[in-house]
Amino acid sequence: MVLVGSRADAHVQEVARRLHAEDVDALVVDTLAFPEETRLSLTEDLAGIVVDGREVGRPAAVYVRGLHAHPLAAKVEAHDAMDADWRTTLTAFREKSALLLGVLGRWERLGVPLYNPPSADWGMHKPAQLAALQAAGLPVPRTLWTNDAEAVRRFARSGRVAYKPIAGGAATQELCEDDLTEERLAALAAAPVTFQELLPGEDLRVYVLDGAVIASLRVVSASLDFRQHEARIEPVTLPPDIASACVKACEVLGLRWTGLDLKRDGDGVPRFLELNGSAMFLGFDARGGSDVAGQLARALARHARDV
Ligand SMILES: Nc1ncnc2c1ncn2[C@@H]1O[C@H](COP(=O)(O)OP(=O)(O)O)[C@@H](O)[C@H]1O
Ligand SMILES: [Mg+2]
Repeated sequence: MVLVGSRADAHVQEVARRLHAEDVDALVVDTLAFPEETRLSLTEDLAGIVVDGREVGRPAAVYVRGLHAHPLAAKVEAHDAMDADWRTTLTAFREKSALLLGVLGRWERLGVPLYNPPSADWGMHKPAQLAALQAAGLPVPRTLWTNDAEAVRRFARSGRVAYKPIAGGAATQELCEDDLTEERLAALAAAPVTFQELLPGEDLRVYVLDGAVIASLRVVSASLDFRQHEARIEPVTLPPDIASACVKACEVLGLRWTGLDLKRDGDGVPRFLELNGSAMFLGFDARGGSDVAGQLARALARHARDV
């Protein structure tokens, strides 16, 4: 069993601890400590993969928490290196990323069950993700990803609009009149933005694993982006049609497991906001009483027993 991520990451630690309790040996490929400490060697053989002196070859299953392969990735401390020499630093990160993605690609090629596989990466870009869900007949909010000021003005005529980053780095906010000035919209020349029908209803977080819903929770919060304020998290029972829509969404994107964010529209219909390829779950388990950690570890452990 291989866990890909930082040894210091709470999710990696918890999955490792649970696997240990299941009597399964888990090797952490510490991607945060790579290439400074973690030693990785690959030969031309698909299974020629040595991590910290250990032949890893074809593991029974892999949990991919994170690659830490970008200066902006969580926990990566590249500030000083970027200030000193951004070009060399970015180049080094690109090399790191190429090797790590190469390792994951080999495992997928070898038929290793990856949670999640690199072939699902295309769908982790939200403009591709939501459109793929919509094409599969799943409910998503009306959305515009753009750097075109005129297109934003047109979109804003249709009702309340939320805006948020495409990849991350800021919270969701409601678009107001002041955001539609020439000056403000000129910021779109620096970076495109997501504009989306504002969904006024309840936030849901659903976990899907190996084709089944394993936890569903609702987040009760007074603010638009629930992460800005303390929120209450409670288990909910999903109507069967919504549960099967969640399973289908996971399948459409080629994920083995996910944490989905849904939010209800004005008519109470939950619409898909996103599927996370490496969803966090410890906070939801602790506050909502779910056991995503245990179920994920048991799913991984089953593969180890099948070999
Ligand atoms: N269209 C929207 N209408 C209302 N609230 C939204 C909308 N989009 C996002 N939010 C709020 O912001 C949170 C974060 O948005 P999300 O699309 O999940 O992006 P990410 O988690 O990648 O930042 C959502 O869980 C929801 O609470
Ligand atoms: Mg989210």
